[in-house]
Amino acid sequence: MMYDAFLLLGRSSDTELYPAPRFVTHIDDQAIRALTKYYSQALPLSKTHGVAILDMCSSWVSHYPAGYKQEKIVGMGMNEDELKKNPVLTEYVVQDLNLNPKLPFDDNTFDVITNVVSVDYLMKPMDVFEEMRRILETSGLAIMSFSNCCFWTKGISIWTSNRDADHACIVGAYFHYAGGFEPPELYQSSNPGQTDPMYIVCSRKKIA
Ligand SMILES: C[S@@+](CC[C@H](N)C(=O)[O-])C[C@H]1O[C@@H](n2cnc3c(N)ncnc32)[C@H](O)[C@@H]1O
Repeated sequence: MMYDAFLLLGRSSDTELYPAPRFVTHIDDQAIRALTKYYSQALPLSKTHGVAILDMCSSWVSHYPAGYKQEKIVGMGMNEDELKKNPVLTEYVVQDLNLNPKLPFDDNTFDVITNVVSVDYLMKPMDVFEEMRRILETSGLAIMSFSNCCFWTKGISIWTSNRDADHACIVGAYFHYAGGFEPPELYQSSNPGQTDPMYIVCSRKKIA
């Protein structure tokens, strides 16, 4: 049988997997704190006029700093009940990116794109990253964060058959091969064996 890096181990479709909301957190408090601390330095200041952010693979929490607000914060995810409850979102879109990786936004729309513990579920990552480049403003920042856990039947083969350090390289390769991004940077917070590690791979859209 041929190895397909972007196939799932499990057979259920994403639409079947997300019918009921899950109001849970997928990483522990220390990992969330590390991510929120990173966001507090990387995101534009709260309530900056004209800033637009997209939280991809979003749910009922986005882990932005407490009270963080912008005029436009769009959440994209699979479950409407989760998205409705997310206090930072100003709007949301329900879309299965594995069925339709085209992002329903104009070119050069967003200042920042975030994606928390979900990049491992993308079966068409190159399409999605090319779309991210298209909808980001010039110098707009994409922040992909993940830990060492995933739903193993939902993660794509290349993810589940590799380890944490490889995952950072995989996400870096998505940026590199999508083209039009600055060389990606890795931020890592880990406390081996005691807390969930947090890996953040981020890159800015290149000035054309
Ligand atoms: C592990 S949860 C993470 C949720 C949220 N980012 C967080 O940090 O709690 C995975 C999220 O990815 C979204 N997701 C999974 N597969 C998806 C797909 N094929 N298309 C779009 N979103 C997807 C789900 O809606 C879910 O909210």
